[in-house]
Amino acid sequence: MRRHEVVVVGAGLAGQRAALAAVEAGRDVAVVSKLHPLRSHSGAAQGGINAAVGAEDSVDTHIYDTVKGSDYLGDQDAIEFFCREAGPTVVEMEHFGTIFSRSPDGSLARRPFGGAGFPRTIYAADRTGLALLQAIWERLGTESSRFTLYQEWDLTRVVVRDGAVQGIVAFDRATGAFEGIAAPSVVLATGPSGRIYARTTNAHSCTGDGVAAAYEAGALLKDMEFVQFHPTALPDSGILITEGARGEGGILKNSLGERFMARYAPHVLDLASRDVVSRAIATEVAEGRGFPGGFAHLELMHLGREKIESRLQEICDFSRHFAGIDPVTEPIPVYPAQHYMMGGIGTNATGATSVRGLFAAGEAACVSIHGANRLGGNSLLETLVFGKQAGIAAAEHAARSSTRPEIAAADVDASQGPIRAMMARKDGEDPAALRAEMQATMERYVGIYRTEADLLEGIRRVRALRQRYENVRIVDRSSVYNLNLTDALEVGHMLELAEVIVVGAYARTESRGAHSRTDYPKRDDAHWMKHTLARRSDRGPELSYSPVAYTRWEPKERVY
Ligand code: FUM
Repeated sequence: MRRHEVVVVGAGLAGQRAALAAVEAGRDVAVVSKLHPLRSHSGAAQGGINAAVGAEDSVDTHIYDTVKGSDYLGDQDAIEFFCREAGPTVVEMEHFGTIFSRSPDGSLARRPFGGAGFPRTIYAADRTGLALLQAIWERLGTESSRFTLYQEWDLTRVVVRDGAVQGIVAFDRATGAFEGIAAPSVVLATGPSGRIYARTTNAHSCTGDGVAAAYEAGALLKDMEFVQFHPTALPDSGILITEGARGEGGILKNSLGERFMARYAPHVLDLASRDVVSRAIATEVAEGRGFPGGFAHLELMHLGREKIESRLQEICDFSRHFAGIDPVTEPIPVYPAQHYMMGGIGTNATGATSVRGLFAAGEAACVSIHGANRLGGNSLLETLVFGKQAGIAAAEHAARSSTRPEIAAADVDASQGPIRAMMARKDGEDPAALRAEMQATMERYVGIYRTEADLLEGIRRVRALRQRYENVRIVDRSSVYNLNLTDALEVGHMLELAEVIVVGAYARTESRGAHSRTDYPKRDDAHWMKHTLARRSDRGPELSYSPVAYTRWEPKERVY
């Protein structure tokens, strides 16, 4: 058995920032990641990171925009902390070496993003996530003699005994060996789970492994029904077309040539919050004003070649290679795609979960600062602000811990046993087929617009898939880079989370932020101004509710 003081699972921005904080606190840290850290999905974030840094902007405006964007479900104490940390976080990342884009006067360039009262999204062209990831990896890399990297290891379990974390079980893809890694503190920073949906901006690796492991270990998941659809993705592939494209002046049009956002957000048009713009595009298409094939157009042509090719370099590449159009001369076809999970492992602002010694940060966590709808540019910030907090808290917990955590052979076997059974089966379910059915189900029944009938059908279908998963079969029996095994485990994780999403969505009989029930079209503060908590049981997710934290902002109708 391996042993460390702090184990961080996931090596995107949140995981690396947590690891850096724990290393700086002098702890023996391990980072466990299924990808090389520089291939983490954080690197796919395009448009930017929010911070109120100029004299004209203010932290209070950032706080207010985030509270309003959340449709008043975000915890205002956490949001206040988050927005106050934004400026120092961006400056720190710049000092770590991030090459941000600049204004002509040399200051940090900023662009407007949806739902923001001021242009406060700082960026590195349209590769902001990659620029940040490279900078933090270089910083953490200089500490490499003080941390251990388990790279291309898959998490299978978080081990909890007597209410306290003992460590994790994971397997090494290169050898197929299952190993226990004991630690008094575990930080889950495994990122998104968007592959639960068919059309998503998320990478293939975004399968919610840490969230599912936390849930299976008894941690509470929070607000899982809130699923963000990014308004502008390429329709076939789901590849993200950054909100920065609209921030730079891009406009949406329907097949009648109308700037249809005037109907949905008369004041800010294309720069309304994501839930509003996604519903607008879906409505235009559903009501017959989309283009054949079912999409809207995003026009950049009026911005001119110089601006498009310098500020939106990736968008040019993606449009040319994956949509076969040149955005300098032609509109980009766009339709909403799943982009972000507002829900996740419930934590406080230090990353602590409901299980002693278990911490979470980044998209895997729900603090909650995004409530029912996240603002663009707040996600990169979240990874760094709360990654650092989780790393500090995990390090402190490990330093204080007086018991010696243990991973028993039986803990490892609890992960390995079911896999042996999956491999021994002569006949059984193909994980890839189950994944495709789950994705189609979630897309169709738990999408942008939701109804009771659809959600009930969604529950029925997801539960049937979970039942079939009991009989899943791994055809490949080899131990070296067995991606059939990885795939089977990931599908299991996603099915677990899909059930929590759909059950929570069925229960919430109101519309708020990204959760839009056509049968309950109004926000219902009297009954639903509360967070959903889900605990795993043999009968499925058991739901309970917790209050939303308020500081200064009274809920009011959200108008853009
Ligand atoms: O549109 C984007 O560039 C995405 C940014 C975000 O999700 O924060």
